[in-house]
Amino acid sequence: MSSKLSEPYRLVVSNQKGGVGKSTIALNTAGALANRGNDVLLIDLDPQGYLTSGTGFDDLYTDEGVKQYNAFKDPSEHDVADLVHAHEEFDVLPANIDMFNLEQELVSMMQGRKRLQMLLEDVTDYDFIVVDCPPSLGLLTDNALLACGNLLIPAEAEDTSIRALDLLFKQVDSLEANFSEASINEQALVVSNVDYPLDGEQRGMLEWFEDQFGEYIPVFEIRNRAAIKRAWNNGRSIFGFDEECDMEDELDQIAAHFEAVARGEDE
Ligand SMILES: Nc1ncnc2c1ncn2[C@@H]1O[C@H](COP(=O)(O)OP(=O)(O)OP(=O)(O)O)[C@@H](O)[C@H]1O
Ligand SMILES: [Mg+2]
Repeated sequence: MSSKLSEPYRLVVSNQKGGVGKSTIALNTAGALANRGNDVLLIDLDPQGYLTSGTGFDDLYTDEGVKQYNAFKDPSEHDVADLVHAHEEFDVLPANIDMFNLEQELVSMMQGRKRLQMLLEDVTDYDFIVVDCPPSLGLLTDNALLACGNLLIPAEAEDTSIRALDLLFKQVDSLEANFSEASINEQALVVSNVDYPLDGEQRGMLEWFEDQFGEYIPVFEIRNRAAIKRAWNNGRSIFGFDEECDMEDELDQIAAHFEAVARGEDE
């Protein structure tokens, strides 16, 4: 992006349903944003740490040192900059195995849903911060929704997505009702892992997404591609991996959309 944003645009990738492409979309959206010249921080908030592995930082997942877990427990004592690791394409704040305890521990902590927001307040030297959520509507996801406010929703073209999105929006409403200053906005929907030729269910769901969301937010479509998986297995987005992939254009459009939104431009 040619001109720097005054503060990072924070983007949360969330859908509590498991295996719908959250981490894949988070990685490749971060890669697309970086490829367009943005400074990006990618945060793995999932205690399972798949994105930490998917960016090549598997060793850090079980590292005994100071980590994201400690920062959540005591935000005023930690600086995110000290916990971030440089990747070829962007910076990464890895998850670690201790984060499994956080869901339970945050319940009894003061401002247990505002910890990520506190941690990100002083993080100003990025254009974009992209947060990958766990597959649950627990306190970690609440932290991400409240800290970021801009929601990218990955969803599969399956009937089960209807209930998943309904539950996600109920959670968003509940957070907005409980935190008067909270404003959480859906900014894009990405139908993930679409397989052609489409079957009836997929076709019906692509129409449903367009009907339900197309008027308000862009609906993107990322197809099932072995190159996406191979890039992941090499610790990179498709933009950092030396293999052609025909999904680069769509991901670049997702990144361009968020640049426009971040600048406050109507598209
Ligand atoms: N466009 C794609 N092309 C090929 N494989 C994909 C694509 N999107 C997702 N996958 C594969 O589908 C599986 C689930 O994707 P991913 O891990 O991104 O989902 P998730 O929502 O983050 O899962 P979890 O809920 O466990 O965090 C992974 O094996 C991933 O490699
Ligand atoms: Mg994931």
